[in-house]
Amino acid sequence: MTNAGSGDRDANADERTSADERAGGGDPSDAAADPSDGGVAPPSWFREEAALTDPGIYDEFDTEWPDAWGRAADLLDWDRPYRTVLDDSEPPFYRWFPDGRLNAAANCVDRHLDGRRNQLAIRWFGKRGERRSYTYFDLHREVNAAAAALRELGVEEGDVVTLYLPMIPELPITMLACARIGAPHNVVFAGLSAEALATRLDAADSAYLVTCDGYYRREDAFNQKSKADNARLRIDGDLAATVVVDRLGDALSVPLGEDEHDYGTLIDRHDGETVAPVARDATDLLFVMYTSGTTGRPKGVEHATGGYLAHVAWTARNVLDVRPDDTYWCAADIGWITGHSYGVYGPLALGTTTVLYEGSPDYPDRDRVWDLIERNAVSVFYTSPTAIRSFMKWGAEYPDAHDLSSIRLLGTVGEAITPKAWRWYREHVGGGDAPVVDTWWQTETGAIALATLPGVTPMKPGRVGPPLPGIDARVVDETGDPVAPGEAGYLTIGKPWPGMLRGLREGEKRYRREYWLETDDGWRYRTGDGATVDDDGYVTILGRVDDVINVRTRRFNTAELESAIVAVDGVTEAAVVGDGDGGVVAYATTRSGVDPDDRTRAAIRDRLAATVGEIARPDRVVFTTELPKTRSGKIMRRLLEDITQDDEFGDISALRNPEVVGEIESAVRDDG
Ligand code: WTA
Repeated sequence: MTNAGSGDRDANADERTSADERAGGGDPSDAAADPSDGGVAPPSWFREEAALTDPGIYDEFDTEWPDAWGRAADLLDWDRPYRTVLDDSEPPFYRWFPDGRLNAAANCVDRHLDGRRNQLAIRWFGKRGERRSYTYFDLHREVNAAAAALRELGVEEGDVVTLYLPMIPELPITMLACARIGAPHNVVFAGLSAEALATRLDAADSAYLVTCDGYYRREDAFNQKSKADNARLRIDGDLAATVVVDRLGDALSVPLGEDEHDYGTLIDRHDGETVAPVARDATDLLFVMYTSGTTGRPKGVEHATGGYLAHVAWTARNVLDVRPDDTYWCAADIGWITGHSYGVYGPLALGTTTVLYEGSPDYPDRDRVWDLIERNAVSVFYTSPTAIRSFMKWGAEYPDAHDLSSIRLLGTVGEAITPKAWRWYREHVGGGDAPVVDTWWQTETGAIALATLPGVTPMKPGRVGPPLPGIDARVVDETGDPVAPGEAGYLTIGKPWPGMLRGLREGEKRYRREYWLETDDGWRYRTGDGATVDDDGYVTILGRVDDVINVRTRRFNTAELESAIVAVDGVTEAAVVGDGDGGVVAYATTRSGVDPDDRTRAAIRDRLAATVGEIARPDRVVFTTELPKTRSGKIMRRLLEDITQDDEFGDISALRNPEVVGEIESAVRDDG
């Protein structure tokens, strides 16, 4: 890592002493940037080489919208070039590049064969220390064989194929095989239950399943196939074919039933065959991804081929600054949207090397992530604030013991990152001066929608940043009018954008109802997030609108209170919930080596009272070694609320660490 300009350091220093402006972050050492200081400039060494450095890009998208999005589409190879950028004749249904035709797999694989066939596409690290590498040539060969195998089993263009696999190369390979033959995929996170799989098979009307015999978690092997078998018993129809990958390495120990096939045998049979990529309309379905709504059954978010791939490629290049010769690592599981967009489609569309890691970040030791970055000379690393908080909790000695000088850019996604975590990440992983890009987006947006452009826009720790060029995001009040700077409102997006969902599997009515607001000013997409915006147009995400808690009849956002709590020295994570009585209970975890004691407890109480107001002084502070989290890493406040209020637990099937429930219950009792 080279010279950060002294200007950058000054900006940092200012920011540290600036008055805290962000609600709830009262400690000056944890303050967000003062809006008047313009934030932390991208370092000059980064700007010199960044993919995008022209500040005129914002104006260009303003004046040439929607045609400017052609810049994104031009990153792709089209079988039939599009002439229309956007068909918006029937809002809120939007069709991007509607007369263009392309194939996503050809864009992610075939076109890189030309002169770069020996470039690594995937570097995989398994849970038991295994490694596998695929060049683009290897990837092409196996994707073709898998596509031929799916065809042999009867999969046709338009058939939905459900993939229920852990983080093994066969997952991106079968995704690309589906894309090659125009069969939309429906990836279900491998850790979800049989019931969740059955619901998604039924809802997607999917008759094809690719799964595996099992997978390892630490030392133990889990039987994935039996979960798939259970799901099969629960679904309405029947599966036409199931493909089973041998992950346990014991030559497929599970017995195969009727219509069940061994992946390895199928690939051997079709090895060396080629399957011509099917040219798809840009608006054709590339995949469906189920995500939880606020209530009821999961929603099947549909993504179209052309707009999605264009937006993902454009942002991977210009926001994450990914280049063809990089080794890039997105730590998210492919079972979620982040893994789809920035673990598979984005990096492969750009022809880079993407790292796929099956294991845990703390196994065999807590330096595993840093060890992998060092060994692979990873230059761009993209992870979540949840992961960063774990890293902080484990201690800086782990990253500090490794040479991380290959890092050029760091990204985060999934929830708000506190200024404290942002600085820690930059300091201990980013060599003190790498850009840390906080990216906001959703399953539904398909790709990054709000973020700083690292070669152009200053960063403000704790704030996501302005909308990307071409994204018409606005924070509005109940009536749809923009709120004043600093005031909380709803984050909405006005004009359509290429990566946006094409619709919901559940139909047009649900799509309109879930997301769209018709205003005098046209249709606005409702993100479901609360936010504020500062004088520079930087957005701070307050969390889901439904994460609001009532404390003594005043409304607070959980993120607001929690960022104040984690500003207390030694505290790593916090969650606040209502006690059902108008009061608030704070749950907190502390850094290893820091004993949660009465002093810390008092400090948390005082901090909340001082920064948010006496009214927010928690009635109780409960320490726990871990907070309950969903599989995507979000704190399950609803469960904490149930425990606090001694209610029956609602649905906790998405809970990743059920073992903490008992501990929290007794902590609540003990603290009385
Ligand atoms: C939250 C993940 C604050 C937000 C890509 C959004 C964020 C939800 C950020 C989508 C961020 C995502 N800062 N909050 N940078 N990024 N979120 O669909 O509440 O799993 O609505 O997509 O995560 O979650 P999803």
